[in-house]
Amino acid sequence: MSVFRTRPNSRREFLERSMLTTAAILAAQSRFGSQALAQDNQSPSVSPNEQIHVAVIGGGGRGQSHIGGFAGKKGTIVTHICDCDEKAGQRSCDSAAEKQGGMRPTWVKDVRKLLDDKSIHAVSIATPNHWHSLGAIWAVQAGKDVYVEKPVSHNVLEGRRLVQAARKHNRIVQTGTQSRSNPGMRAAMEFIHSGGIGEVSVARGLCYKRRNSIGPKGVYEVPKEVDYDLWSGPAPILPVTRKQFHYDWHWQWAYGNGDLGNQGIHQMDLCRWALNVDKLCDKTFSIGGRFGYEDAGETANTQLVIHDYGNKQLAFEVRGLKTNDYKGANVGIIVEGSKGYLVMTSYQSGTAFDLDGKPIKTFEGGNDSYHYKNFEDAVRKRDHKILNADVEEGHLSSALCHLGNISLRLGDKLDSKDAAARVNKVAGPSKVAEAWNRTVEHLKENSVETFQVQVGPELKFDPISETFVGNEKANTMLSREYRKGYELPSEQSV
Ligand SMILES: NC(=O)c1ccc[n+]([C@@H]2O[C@H](COP(=O)([O-])OP(=O)(O)OC[C@H]3O[C@@H](n4cnc5c(N)ncnc54)[C@H](O)[C@@H]3O)[C@@H](O)[C@H]2O)c1
Repeated sequence: MSVFRTRPNSRREFLERSMLTTAAILAAQSRFGSQALAQDNQSPSVSPNEQIHVAVIGGGGRGQSHIGGFAGKKGTIVTHICDCDEKAGQRSCDSAAEKQGGMRPTWVKDVRKLLDDKSIHAVSIATPNHWHSLGAIWAVQAGKDVYVEKPVSHNVLEGRRLVQAARKHNRIVQTGTQSRSNPGMRAAMEFIHSGGIGEVSVARGLCYKRRNSIGPKGVYEVPKEVDYDLWSGPAPILPVTRKQFHYDWHWQWAYGNGDLGNQGIHQMDLCRWALNVDKLCDKTFSIGGRFGYEDAGETANTQLVIHDYGNKQLAFEVRGLKTNDYKGANVGIIVEGSKGYLVMTSYQSGTAFDLDGKPIKTFEGGNDSYHYKNFEDAVRKRDHKILNADVEEGHLSSALCHLGNISLRLGDKLDSKDAAARVNKVAGPSKVAEAWNRTVEHLKENSVETFQVQVGPELKFDPISETFVGNEKANTMLSREYRKGYELPSEQSV
């Protein structure tokens, strides 16, 4: 009989129970094996005056920013670059060398080999999304601290597993949602939380970012410098159907999460922060599609997600076609309170207004360097509580993107009139249902007049167990099939 007779009251209680259960089961099957885990497989933590040895994993566009964040700094040095594309790896070694007085990092193709190197204290992960959680889990199992790009996961379950791994191995894991460290954004959140705009009931996230067609679906060559087995990792090995190999994976479900999980995760995170909720929602609903062109992309370029928290709502809009701003923002957030509203138009700046639209306070200041520095400080102090974007925050906000996408992907294809009726039925009484009317107007402005749209079911969710209530199909979408050799460790073996 279970020692736990009652249902846990909170996520924290749920986790404490899980950890107790976990402690009773011997570690098994991690990449490092149960024996190795019990012994000394871990890298030593950095000593106080030592430079932190950082390995950057993934040397594409974002990897360059990571190199800029850690190379040529007093407290950090980039000692290794790991990329399964040799060209990207060598190019990244060159750029790191330039920034750190000629000290050229070592290029390593295979992340598993990299993690065996005990001279590395921390890794920063800027690979495609499907690698984030598994790469970070392997890294903490090997004793490394981790800076992992957003979204921290490609699906809900692996994100939670990463949080469990970070805690179990007592590692520092920062999420790449850098707005969280910007003084301007922090001041805005403090203003909201201290009642500056009154009682907050709605947070709107906007990802209005023009995205062009990625070209026709076809069968394209893998670039000769890329080890495709390693690139695919936990995902199945599939024919390459997009013209541009790098970056455009964002728009294919096997690897990316659409713009909701690309640009949108930043604003999703800010909305959740503004609402001051540290759990997933009670209900989720999404509607959308890929409009304006037919191409190799599969994810929505036009989407509305509504997350319901009972007394608060989070509404998220993605627009990839040409559009005007909404209330002065295109990629930003709008937070509505009983005494006013606040609009953040970038990662660090914005304005609070009263109910008549008169500006009452402005917020400004920050850049990416604050976030890298915050990671360094937490690594030195060995305290994940001082992280501005601890992995648990990253998991929750990433998972909100995944929940929206699950509703969308389970949706029925309806014509625009029936779709409007469904939105009205689900969100009718709320303040946010109007967002779909604005989306329809926006589509018309882009000459999309009559259309079929994917309309999701409204899904009930239990934020304590992080599972859907009464929808098994949706529950299977909380995880994925992992390829042999790249399996997600179980909760017991993480
Ligand atoms: N925080 C931010 O503001 C921000 C900005 C841009 C991108 N990002 C995130 O950074 C990540 C990378 O984006 P990008 O635009 O650089 O993508 P990209 O496709 O241009 O680059 C990814 C790189 O990772 C490499 N890679 C793939 N699998 C690997 C593996 N197993 N081991 C080592 N290297 C591997 C690829 O070869 C490629 O060079 C994405 O997840 C994205 O969401 C964050």
